[in-house]
Amino acid sequence: MRMIEQAISEPMSEKHWPPQAGTLQEKLRDKTATIGVIGLGYVGLPLAVEFAGKGFHTLGFDLNAERVIRLNEGQNYIQDVENAALRKVVEEGLFRAEDDFARAGEVDVFFICVPTPVTPYKDPDTSYIRSAAEGIAAHLRAGQLVILKSTTYPDTTEGLVQPILEQKARQQGLHLGRDYFLAFSPERIDPGNKAFTTANTPVVVGGVTQACTELASLVMQQVVHLVHPVSSPKVAEMEKLLENIFRSVNIALVNELARLCDRIGGISIWEVVEAAATKPFGFMPFYPGPGLGGHCIPIDPYYLSWLARKYDFETSFITLSAHVNEEMPFYVVEAVQRAIAEQPIPLRDAKVLILGVAFKANVDDVRHSPATRVIDLLREKGVKKIHYSDPFVPSLSFRTHRGESLQLASVELDREALEAHDVVVVMTDHGAFPYAQIAEHAPVIVDTRNALKHIPHNRDKIRVLGGGDF
Ligand SMILES: NC(=O)c1ccc[n+]([C@@H]2O[C@H](COP(=O)([O-])OP(=O)(O)OC[C@H]3O[C@@H](n4cnc5c(N)ncnc54)[C@H](O)[C@@H]3O)[C@@H](O)[C@H]2O)c1
Repeated sequence: MRMIEQAISEPMSEKHWPPQAGTLQEKLRDKTATIGVIGLGYVGLPLAVEFAGKGFHTLGFDLNAERVIRLNEGQNYIQDVENAALRKVVEEGLFRAEDDFARAGEVDVFFICVPTPVTPYKDPDTSYIRSAAEGIAAHLRAGQLVILKSTTYPDTTEGLVQPILEQKARQQGLHLGRDYFLAFSPERIDPGNKAFTTANTPVVVGGVTQACTELASLVMQQVVHLVHPVSSPKVAEMEKLLENIFRSVNIALVNELARLCDRIGGISIWEVVEAAATKPFGFMPFYPGPGLGGHCIPIDPYYLSWLARKYDFETSFITLSAHVNEEMPFYVVEAVQRAIAEQPIPLRDAKVLILGVAFKANVDDVRHSPATRVIDLLREKGVKKIHYSDPFVPSLSFRTHRGESLQLASVELDREALEAHDVVVVMTDHGAFPYAQIAEHAPVIVDTRNALKHIPHNRDKIRVLGGGDF
């Protein structure tokens, strides 16, 4: 409650409230505001369906025409969105997807939810934000509010999006904060997390002006219980990076300790973390793994270190944690090589089965998955027969570090498949994997997630990352 109160405890005095803000406020109150979501992926589609589900006419914009066709037929492709919820808003005419910006003029509130990747040299690639902002600018009119949600470095909202909008606004005599509005509100969705949904995950909002912050907070309050306003978009942008870098740094710390436990022998990092987590204050458990994945944690730190360089500042913690985390797939590959050598089989004849290629448990997202890196590295070492099984990922295509395109199909995980491979590598701890059967029939298991911790039998053939015997 405290956060909502904060949002509305010091509202702008009535006489300073710009008329256009008042109009938008009324439209939100009577649900006549049209919401526009640019980028209908993991972030944008759930948000669009959420607003449409609350009765707002919602337009989704995506350059991917195939996605747009599917959505307008009520076909869902994002795990966190319920098929029935999407179908309902499509059938009720509350949600419509568009593959161009022709209808952008109808939109009162835009959300920009486009990708923010890095270049091959790990510099920020803001071209998607730029193109979304240009799409909005072409249709800019009085009364519109733009909320950037893509994770990015501090000053993107004011330094990149604002000038693009202002160029068009000037031609129309529109002023930011008076006639149209701009804010940053980072996304906190955690795909696959059933406990925290859009509604019960607090959001942070920072507008370019006070009216921008208040309007954006009001918009977010339509779908989120708790809104925490901050003094500027830069604070909100930095806050999001802090959240993700906090994870990256802490994961790096346990990854380093996991390797130390393996070096010392006889100490399991998993048991250590479990024990430390009994402390009721001042400690938060993080777990080791085969490397970072997904669109956020492996990428976002580079957005900040890139910005820092402009200020002659080296973000040593960030660089160090990236280094430790990026080493993990190499460490896993060394363990797989040892497991092959133990048998002994030449690498070229070894058959390796990778269990799980999604970057984390129970999701279908393979972006930057450490599994693809491990497959790539094993192939470089000369392992030719590599298969994978993942109930969430029927087929996998990715580009290797040498630029080669690889396409693999998931194999069925049964006794035959387990026995046919020399080493089975658990890369993702999907709940659906039959761990008892895996322990029974796989010749050797390299377990990077401690996923077989509850399996009491066949422990002698299980090598656990950080288990002291990796
Ligand atoms: N996925 C997550 O869990 C998560 C969590 C928090 C924040 N984020 C951030 O949210 C942003 C979006 O991530 P995502 O995972 O939803 O990406 P995504 O790749 O799943 O979806 C992005 C969509 O945007 C579309 N697109 C790209 N450029 C466009 C343009 N100019 N106009 C219209 N559509 C365009 C793409 O076709 C795609 O459908 C990123 O900045 C990411 O870092 C993601």
